[in-house]
Amino acid sequence: MLTASFGMPDRQPDSPTLIHLRADDVSVLLHLHDTRMPEIVHWGRDLGPLTADLAASLALAAIPLIGENSVDEPVLLTLPIDQRDGYTGRPGVVGSRQGNDWSPVFSTTSIRLDGAEVEGWQESGAGEIVVLGRDAEAGLEMSLTVELTPSGLLRSRAELTNTAENDYQLDGLTLALPVPASATELLDLGGRWGRERVPQRTAFNQGIHLREGRKGRTGADAATVLHAGTPGFGFADGEIWSVHTGWSGNHVHYAESTFTGLRVIGGGELLLPGEIQLGPGQSYCTPWLFANYGRGLDSVARRFHRYLRSRPQHVDTDRPVTLNVWEAVYFDHDLDRLLDLAERAAKLGVERCVLDDGWFGSRRDDTRGLGDWTVSQQVWPDGLHPLVDRVRDLGMQFGLWFEPEMVNPDSDLAREHPEWIMSARGQWPVLSRHQQVLNLSIPECYDAILAAILAILDEYPISYLKWDHNRDLIEAGNQLTGGAAAVHAQTATLYRMLRAIKRAHPGLEIESCSSGGARVDLGVLDHTDRVWVSDCIDPLERQSMMRWTSQLLPPELLGSHIASGRSHTTGRTHDLNFRAATAVFGHLGIEWDLADASDRALAELSAWIDFYRSHRDLLLGGDLVRLDNPGEGAMVHGVVAGDRQRAIFAYVLTSNPAADPGPAIRLRDLSPQTRYLVEPMLVGSAPSGLVAPRWWGGRAVDAPAPINPAHPYPQPQEAVCYPGAVFTGSQLTEAGVMPPRLHPDQAVLFRLTAQPGS
Ligand code: GLA
Repeated sequence: MLTASFGMPDRQPDSPTLIHLRADDVSVLLHLHDTRMPEIVHWGRDLGPLTADLAASLALAAIPLIGENSVDEPVLLTLPIDQRDGYTGRPGVVGSRQGNDWSPVFSTTSIRLDGAEVEGWQESGAGEIVVLGRDAEAGLEMSLTVELTPSGLLRSRAELTNTAENDYQLDGLTLALPVPASATELLDLGGRWGRERVPQRTAFNQGIHLREGRKGRTGADAATVLHAGTPGFGFADGEIWSVHTGWSGNHVHYAESTFTGLRVIGGGELLLPGEIQLGPGQSYCTPWLFANYGRGLDSVARRFHRYLRSRPQHVDTDRPVTLNVWEAVYFDHDLDRLLDLAERAAKLGVERCVLDDGWFGSRRDDTRGLGDWTVSQQVWPDGLHPLVDRVRDLGMQFGLWFEPEMVNPDSDLAREHPEWIMSARGQWPVLSRHQQVLNLSIPECYDAILAAILAILDEYPISYLKWDHNRDLIEAGNQLTGGAAAVHAQTATLYRMLRAIKRAHPGLEIESCSSGGARVDLGVLDHTDRVWVSDCIDPLERQSMMRWTSQLLPPELLGSHIASGRSHTTGRTHDLNFRAATAVFGHLGIEWDLADASDRALAELSAWIDFYRSHRDLLLGGDLVRLDNPGEGAMVHGVVAGDRQRAIFAYVLTSNPAADPGPAIRLRDLSPQTRYLVEPMLVGSAPSGLVAPRWWGGRAVDAPAPINPAHPYPQPQEAVCYPGAVFTGSQLTEAGVMPPRLHPDQAVLFRLTAQPGS
């Protein structure tokens, strides 16, 4: 029976604590109450140093008026949002104890900043706040962590513990942050297989903009980053508040605007019915919700990139040029053919060779054998050794494909353990790519799959795993518990397995692939080292997919390949120039049957690989720049070194503009006073239809010296080089330079080098 004093809500005055965190031009001011979880008073541009008085005034200034025909108190937005204060939008905690205790309110029991208790007023740089709260009546405790990283990224997560003696069923725990009314537009991403991360914009209207991922993986259509911004925000301009849910299973991103004028953006895990039953003493922890404030989409992207680059496990810019054999041979695992491919690749300067699907069990096509992780005797009578040894003798690393969470019903594993297949009812879910999902949260299943992977890793010197996941989780239940939903457990177990493999094989790199780019999120990237952006390698599609995938991830984490001239997924044909100029802005690879390539194409390809290898510190380590409106049919993007001494930009033409010549290209994020030599880089050969503008200077008589004279392929004869010209950073930004004329689907790279003494 309830014993609360009906009639008078229990809204006691409290002695607030205020904490101000500041890092990288971002401020977060938190108002920590005694009687409820914290409120975010300000999350946005740096406010400069504050005093206790100033912070208290700001906290007062943020209290809204009492709304007309609304509750008789100002509606406060706590983190997570509670229901007691009168917010009638989406609450943070959704759950109950058999129908009761569904509106918990947590009184604060402890506030710590970087481990030390805080009371009153505190200001700091980057830092981590941990707030403990208790609702004795509901029998729940909350631990909330809010951390402002040195890169200005704000990440939070909440852990809920059941302290009562009976179960608490949790149906959702999401976190949301307030954004100002000036954020009137939303931008997030959508997409599908072969066309991942397509931007979509909408007005931030009253109601809820809810992006649910119910695929048991991040999804090719995931929102990825949900931005709310001032009207017309673009790559360079506009105030933007954004969120990303760092989770690879079911998840939400949402933006909500209520009749009281409050606006929030948030996210968390999407829990299926009954997934989280907290027994006495048990806890549930949300994934990290990453909140990113910036001015312009480039500054938001760079904040994500700086955060990722600051992690101890982050890869360096020395990303090995990779050959992946998938589009070269598919399931045709013929040793001689693969050896020949490896030899051709090594001559080009490739540094890592990856054997894709088809090496194990009865897997001669995608209908059979998945789950049987032993090397096929039929195709590989001597094991993988002859290939692995040759690859290593050629000085390359060896990588191998796995799809550990999946099984073909036509496999020894499925025949032996049909009970390991995820299913919600007395019937298996609908097939997808002829496969079902293995329930890794069954300990015997987990142990068997892990042991099979470790056995292969123990037998062969493998530097890299391509970890695939080629279907959505539909009706993903646990057969052993009557079909109970098990997506949460599956996702957590995946992370556990990745951790175990990395622990057993330190230095091993893992790629997150999922039918191309359907598992791209900061949860999986805690355990993996790059993502496969898409199964579509058509450079025209890739221009857009790379551009938007880099809204979250820096280029060194984006698998980016040069494929054959005719795209296997779109049927379009593109010159090598365009394919390579697109691919070098990521972790470069080749996915092309090199036996089919002409000597001329191989010569050009070797020049591109040389270019990549000699510029990858900048290509994969610089700050991302994308230009807004560089002219009809044109795209311009690039990377600028942190010290602004070097940059590489790409001018890409995707269709003929109506007006010719196009507008000047106005590069930005350069150092205004620095004098830069701007050189057109015609790697391999000149793009088709090239008409050079005057400022490029005279065409050099001789072909450029090969970057690597020891190369076995002749350098392309038509390679031309133009001297370019010197401009200051301000000239390039304020006046710009005339682009060349090109045929559509062609690109030119420009290298900018600060001149000595400037
Ligand atoms: C997925 C991946 C591809 C390839 C195939 C193999 O589609 O995205 O790159 O590995 O699986 O079956």
